Amino acid sequence: MFDLIVVGGGPGGYEAAAHAGKLGMSVALVEKKRLGGTCLNVGCIPAKTFLHTAKLVRDAREGAAYGVQVGTPTVDQPTLVARKNRIVDTLVNGVGQLMDANKVQVVQGEGRLVARDTVEVRTGEGTERLQAANVMIATGSKVAKPPIPGLDSPAVLDSDSVFDLPELPASVAIIGGGVIGLEFASFFNDVGVQVTVLEMLPSIGAGADDDVSRRLLKALQSAGITFHLSAKVTEVGPDGVRFTDAKGTEQVVVAERVMNAAGRVPAVAGLGLEELGVEVRRGVVTTPEGRTNVPGIWAIGDANGRMMLAHVATREGIVAVNTIAGRPDRMRYDAMPGVIYTSPEASWVGPTEAQLKQAGVAYRKAQVPAGVSGRFLIENEHGSGFAKVLVDARYGRLLGAHVLGDVSSEFIVAAAAMIETELTAEAAMEVVFPHPTVSEVLREALVRVAHV
Ligand code: NAI
Repeated sequence: MFDLIVVGGGPGGYEAAAHAGKLGMSVALVEKKRLGGTCLNVGCIPAKTFLHTAKLVRDAREGAAYGVQVGTPTVDQPTLVARKNRIVDTLVNGVGQLMDANKVQVVQGEGRLVARDTVEVRTGEGTERLQAANVMIATGSKVAKPPIPGLDSPAVLDSDSVFDLPELPASVAIIGGGVIGLEFASFFNDVGVQVTVLEMLPSIGAGADDDVSRRLLKALQSAGITFHLSAKVTEVGPDGVRFTDAKGTEQVVVAERVMNAAGRVPAVAGLGLEELGVEVRRGVVTTPEGRTNVPGIWAIGDANGRMMLAHVATREGIVAVNTIAGRPDRMRYDAMPGVIYTSPEASWVGPTEAQLKQAGVAYRKAQVPAGVSGRFLIENEHGSGFAKVLVDARYGRLLGAHVLGDVSSEFIVAAAAMIETELTAEAAMEVVFPHPTVSEVLREALVRVAHV
């Protein structure tokens, strides 16, 4: 009998298991594939490895503007894939060590709830039953496949298969201009592949602030990516994608490869949840502490479909474990940062302007160009960007920050910390930003919005 069984060993599940182990609970972690989940194996880590190589190519190509002469850079795809595999292996081993260090028993196999406190695990050798006072579902998400004829062909790439491409195609059509679609569009474009993105909505960046979405679209278009917005994809064929454009005209994008980046859905089927009366809609329905409607069964991460990001999953797992242990804790979804690792990067935390308007929140804002930072000018001969901050109209408390430009992913956490601690723009003036850094663009936006 364990205190906790975690089903799913991604950043939500393994961090929750480690935290529970640290608190002295006896923990089993059930994983059917490799530890690390989507993020380590076919998500965040491989994607960023690919995007870093793309950045080196871009830097080499643009070197002349910085006084560096290099020949035409090319990408050796097998070397890139081998490097990605090495990095993934290192991190997956690290997760194993983390489990050992926290005395978490890792059980390799596919888990399914057969009673409220019992998980049956199908292992290579047969089945095994584990029991615990608490069971946490952390099974993540899987690639969504909209019902488009031809989309289920094995030739169509998705965010799982794209990482093992033995060679780069000459052209790619990407269905979906959300986070995955944009990051891969950026990667492929930088390494010399001709890229077309088909997005059914009139804007890109799935949920990004309108200014970020618009400016990112412009930046990616200037970099050479073709976008068709408000596009209705009707068929995927061997030589490309058929769609109806915004004006209702039938068009075809001819491309060597097609990639499906039309979203992900919670992976919660076949876990025995419905049989036990656990409420499941798109994902498992939970409270912000991760409780389901069945006592003792918890769900965190992509499996609950709330905010499908690795770092959100990790935080949800820790909040759920603390709640189980009777330690007061809570989720602050308004302080969860999000990043699109395109070139340029887009980073944000807190609500968008549209969300504030819709909620009827009175706010003030300031927006400054990234060029106010000397460091940004030094590092971005051709780049542009901005920082926008949103504060509540009455007290000046920071509500949201939206930044376009490299390396915003590295400093958006400053704004997240300010939101988490409910700092006003005035109080934030006491926080010293190192000079010269790109982060000063955020400081400048806060200076402009602060009451003096
Ligand atoms: P997404 O929900 O971000 O974007 C999917 C896009 O595809 C949307 O813009 C949607 O309008 C479009 N779409 C859907 N059906 C379509 C169709 N039939 N034709 C044309 N367009 C269509 O999902 P995405 O990009 O696949 O990412 C999945 C999840 O993974 C997201 O929750 C995302 O947050 C997460 N993720 C996060 C990353 C990050 O934080 N940097 C990186 C990659 C993924």
